[in-house]
Amino acid sequence: MQGKIKLLSDDCIQKIAAGEVIERPSNVVKELLENSADAGSSTISLEIKGAGKELIRIADNGCGILKEEVPLALQKHSTSKIQSLEDLQTLTTFGFRGEALPCIASISKMELITRSKEENSGSQTTLIGGKIVAQKECGRSEGTTIEVKELFFNTPARLKFLKSDSTEKNRMLRTFEESALSHPEIAYELKNENSSKELPSRKDLKDRILDLWGEHLKIEDLIPLNLTHPFIQIKGWISNPQSHKPSKSYQIFYINKRPIISRALNHALYEAYRDCLPQGRHPVGIISITMDPSQVDFNVHPTKREVRFRNESQIYDLLIKEIRLKRSLISTPPSLFKKELELNDLQSSFQTNQNHFEKFETLSGNHPNLKESIGSLEKYNFSRSASEAAKSTLLIKQPAKVLAQFHSLYILAEQNHHLIIIDQHAAAERILYEKFKQCLSKGLPVPTQALLLPLLWNVSLPQAELVRGALVSLRKLGFFIEEFGEKTFRIQEAPAMIPESELQKSLDEILSSLEKELEPSYPVEEKIMHAACRSAIKANEALSHPELSKLLEELELCSNPHTCPHGRPITLTISKQELDKKFGRI
Ligand SMILES: Nc1ncnc2c1ncn2[C@@H]1O[C@H](COP(=O)(O)OP(=O)(O)OP(=O)(O)O)[C@@H](O)[C@H]1O
Ligand SMILES: [Mg+2]
Repeated sequence: MQGKIKLLSDDCIQKIAAGEVIERPSNVVKELLENSADAGSSTISLEIKGAGKELIRIADNGCGILKEEVPLALQKHSTSKIQSLEDLQTLTTFGFRGEALPCIASISKMELITRSKEENSGSQTTLIGGKIVAQKECGRSEGTTIEVKELFFNTPARLKFLKSDSTEKNRMLRTFEESALSHPEIAYELKNENSSKELPSRKDLKDRILDLWGEHLKIEDLIPLNLTHPFIQIKGWISNPQSHKPSKSYQIFYINKRPIISRALNHALYEAYRDCLPQGRHPVGIISITMDPSQVDFNVHPTKREVRFRNESQIYDLLIKEIRLKRSLISTPPSLFKKELELNDLQSSFQTNQNHFEKFETLSGNHPNLKESIGSLEKYNFSRSASEAAKSTLLIKQPAKVLAQFHSLYILAEQNHHLIIIDQHAAAERILYEKFKQCLSKGLPVPTQALLLPLLWNVSLPQAELVRGALVSLRKLGFFIEEFGEKTFRIQEAPAMIPESELQKSLDEILSSLEKELEPSYPVEEKIMHAACRSAIKANEALSHPELSKLLEELELCSNPHTCPHGRPITLTISKQELDKKFGRI
């Protein structure tokens, strides 16, 4: 809680003062929104005019500032949020440097109207370039209004460095979104020129996400995170593996409600989606981590957006584990093309929901995995339509029928009035990867084949060290490798899924992947599987009709038939309707 505003000691100032710099209007918005949240407000309204250069006005119903303390609040290094450096260990507020208000005031014309809970009337203070030019008593309900007019009026150089009005506006709106998602319980109002948006107070972050981004994100595309660990708690929402986005707009990380930038957390998010994210696509992740303030340092950068963790690798590992776990609970029902999942298509295919359930009950008996994943959809309170959609997909899916092979590279198939083009190598990689993965996750041995002649594998000295370190993992995946001298290994048995003719290539791939420096926590088995899969059916390989059909059958059984383990798409689908349109038939 905030106490009275006090000037920090010189020693403390030296250690924490980072010389707050307001470079653009969004910095003002961020500081003022944070102050309002720190003041315990339950409603905050933000108004922007002229891309923030004309006016930024923030009004809240927080604790307000005592009349006699207003000049102090406007003085550098005066804060009510900490008294000494030690207080940073227990910090629960956004602010702590006592720099933002004086800094903003010094480069604008500011009006500060505030009334503290303890007083019957408020005060209005007018500043120009940081100097108080007028002060009077005024009426106001509890809370604070700050108007920042003519930002940078006395620093024309900074005005010049601003980007276009629309870019600056977008940055302010992003800052507003970050704040609103950090505090679903606060009601917000946003006025931007002629448009306005109201966000009611919400108990659940999910509702705030939908208030803000409901046009682009569907609840059935989101998966909740919820991990409580002795020293951190991870909450938030991520996208299911198929609902990736073309940009990173739907990613925000919070530590103790503060939006932050962290390469490690960002890496963890992508790592957790590594096997299912097509190139150039991005997962959704609104991830809020709560931890003891003594375990994280926000006093790294003037904007407080960069953080230093005491134990970064542990947080990294926990985040990956939690995302992977929650992802696996919502495995997607097999279907070669995602369009089939859309409810509109489904609704036209079936007359009544009752029918779905009856048919599903009969069919799902043969598909225990599907039934399980649908069960978990419902467990997570997904809308009934999402789980019904998943159930119905099974009903309308007919087996894909092979039509032809094109350039020994692509399979042409048809399924449910769609033409599907399949990258045969990507498909084979996915199938191989999932076979390995299934054995590992169930603790089953990978089926192996004894080689006709043992293969001798010669490597360099440093490579031999790497192979030696991975022998146990290799054995788990069906590579029975023994040392045969300092730089030679003998292979007598290998995974049955890898043709003997491809074994050497597969080992080469494994070696180069072992040489790549990934995050230390990245499991060796995962590296090996990814590399081994490259030896799946290669492009430029002519396959017989039965071979092509088998490949499709196996692909349909994969939990993710959409991307290869390295993220490339596997299928491209064109509906009959699209073709009809192209040929001017409709
Ligand atoms: N909206 C507000 N409601 C109530 N008090 C406020 C508000 N805005 C500022 N204050 C008071 O003014 C003080 C100075 O605010 P300022 O933003 O300059 O510093 P800070 O928030 O303490 O630290 P920082 O510079 O890190 O943001 C705050 O410590 C707080 O006591
Ligand atoms: Mg502040």
